[in-house]
Amino acid sequence: DARLSRRSLLRAGGAALAASAVGGGSLAAPGGGDLVEVELLAKQRMQRILPEPANASPLVTYAERFPGPVIRLRKGQRLRATLVNGLTEHTSIHWHGIRLSNAEDGVPFLTQPPTKPGERHVYEFTPPDSGSFFFHPHCNTVELLGRGLAGALIVEEEGGPAFDADLVCMIKDWQLDKTGAFGAFTSDRGASRAGTFGSVSTVNGLIEPVIDVPANGDVRARLYNVDSTRVIDLRVEGTESGGGAWIIAVDGNPLPPRPLDGWPMGPAMRLDVIFRAPKDPGKTLRLTNVYSAQPKPLAVFRSVGTALPNKRFAPRALPAASIPQPDLKNATVVPMAFSATAVAQIFDDALLTSLPFADSLCLSEKTFWAINQQSWPEGGHERLPPPITTLEKGRSYVFELANLTPHLHPIHIHGYTFSVLSSDLRKVVPHHADTVLLEPKERLRVAIKADNPGDWMFHCHIIEHQDTGMMGYIRVA
Ligand code: C2O
Ligand code: CU
Repeated sequence: DARLSRRSLLRAGGAALAASAVGGGSLAAPGGGDLVEVELLAKQRMQRILPEPANASPLVTYAERFPGPVIRLRKGQRLRATLVNGLTEHTSIHWHGIRLSNAEDGVPFLTQPPTKPGERHVYEFTPPDSGSFFFHPHCNTVELLGRGLAGALIVEEEGGPAFDADLVCMIKDWQLDKTGAFGAFTSDRGASRAGTFGSVSTVNGLIEPVIDVPANGDVRARLYNVDSTRVIDLRVEGTESGGGAWIIAVDGNPLPPRPLDGWPMGPAMRLDVIFRAPKDPGKTLRLTNVYSAQPKPLAVFRSVGTALPNKRFAPRALPAASIPQPDLKNATVVPMAFSATAVAQIFDDALLTSLPFADSLCLSEKTFWAINQQSWPEGGHERLPPPITTLEKGRSYVFELANLTPHLHPIHIHGYTFSVLSSDLRKVVPHHADTVLLEPKERLRVAIKADNPGDWMFHCHIIEHQDTGMMGYIRVA
């Protein structure tokens, strides 16, 4: 239905989306009907990230502007998305966080043939859960995501609390030099440690944007970390009531409301938060990343319009999700060890950079990392290794995720949502997530009920770690 697809496409664009949320009422529901169709043309598009005199930068996007498009569905609606490959390399779309059937998961060679330049590929599925999801390619991700190839997929819940605005904040750094040109997205030095960090931080592709919100309104902000590398810990500062923002969902999954004050987000993680906008038009709140010693301002929320009527600020829970409950009593425990490879371990910091023969000796292998001592061969998917483990369909499993490295790793599973159980390092709030941040030396227990058959990728979402070995797949059969 062309009309529906046009309407969906018209919602593209973060700035436009933020603007459309202003002025009272929540965003219009997505188009009627059972099917929403979108076309996603992946190609290079110039977009200004840095102010003049820098040039516009050669982004790669699915829509006219990063971040885009924002696809909105009502729960129960079916999505038919056609990828059109306008790139000079093969690609695919992975629907991050969606519990879909394996054939729609968008992993080249594993779940579908790669979509070649000029080709199209149609994905079709009905997301079973409401929430804030996103999509991105699954090969050469370090460059393509680095250049902006990602979009938001929002599935609106039925019922539940009302909001006066519903915003998407896509938080991402860019690896740009002063002229606006992209620098190297990866380096052996970065890939073998915490990753290569971008040079400029943005929200929706804008440096410290001013995002308008309805005065005295209850604002739902869907905070996405779509960076390839950086871990962030966000605050909404300056609220008049309620002590900042409150988390209401993690990776799209409802969480009993709790203050946003210490929930670090690794790459690919999302938090839905709610906060009350200031009563006086023109007043502002600050979105800040406090993860590093020096808190970094990311954006400003500014109240506009006539103040909405006073009401008490009381964050309410979203309707419960229907993720299959793992049977913990009868679950099988599967150890999953995340480590540096033996070869990389030989080299300490100084050696890695100083050895003249390091390149030929080991770094050309580009496998610094492993899961259960198995490294994914190189960055692509052409040579499939055997699965990390094979699970029996219908059984429940507890993964013991053990981080044997001194670095952070956001661990992601395709096609499933983890029940996050416990950690030996910290008190864990039980919750559902598709990506969990493993702290250095931490052991974290997560569980799934293996109800969804197929070969499911399982990897670190720091893209350089994923591309240099910390990736595998789990077979459910
Ligand atoms: Cu967003 Cu394989 O991941
Ligand atoms: Cu990692």
